[in-house]
Amino acid sequence: MKLNLKIWRQAGPAAAGRLENYAAHDISADMSFLEMLDVVNEGLVRQGKDTIAFDSDCREGICGTCGFLVDGIPHGPDPGTTVCQLHMRRFKDGDTLTLEPWRARPFPVLKDLVVDRSAFDRIIQAGGYTSANVGGAQDANAILIAKPVADQAMDSAACIGCGACVAACKNASAALFTSAKVSHLALLPQGAPERYSRVVKMVERHDAEGFGSCSNEGECEAVCPKEIPITNIARMNREYLKAMLVIGE
Ligand code: SF4
Ligand code: FES
Repeated sequence: MKLNLKIWRQAGPAAAGRLENYAAHDISADMSFLEMLDVVNEGLVRQGKDTIAFDSDCREGICGTCGFLVDGIPHGPDPGTTVCQLHMRRFKDGDTLTLEPWRARPFPVLKDLVVDRSAFDRIIQAGGYTSANVGGAQDANAILIAKPVADQAMDSAACIGCGACVAACKNASAALFTSAKVSHLALLPQGAPERYSRVVKMVERHDAEGFGSCSNEGECEAVCPKEIPITNIARMNREYLKAMLVIGE
């Protein structure tokens, strides 16, 4: 396959960016999208030119490191799929694709398709953990948890922190990410002692980082590679309301 690519090039956070045209030749339908970019970058190296910067680590859809817009869609056109798991068989010979970084003020562009997502780390640091001293490792079944509850908590914990939800939201809200992290701990007994202080701290950090409010557009759920449902946002809002009533902040 041959593809025409329009790729956002930006030398650094303060530099002006622009779309530049590239041709990707000899692309196998079995390659992943990132392998296709590897081929383009190998060509740039041979020409002595600056390679296209993009993030990746596991390339198996589990780490959340990769992510950019393909024709305006976070992670590209396949639902429930990270861009590292997107395959070139999804596209046709001669297609023209536009690649851009996440567009959100709390995610400043570092270079080309790479953005700074440390705002997510700071939301987690604000409360996305349990600090109870639990001593040595417990037997797995020492605290009995109903299967439907464990399943819900696991579904929320599946969030890989990629940031696609923010990129898709017209408000640049990180409500889906934050609510997934709030939910998986709030649902389990181990997370119960700090559940109210946790949700308040995480929501306050979310707002302080400059993410917008959720207005129930549902774009986040539609593009989330882990298919995290927006029912998590409703749960976070209920947790926050209860926290206001319980701790009165
Ligand atoms: S909620 Fe989904 S889209 Fe948002 S950071 Fe988590 S995995 Fe990515
Ligand atoms: S590189 Fe890890 S999820 Fe894509």
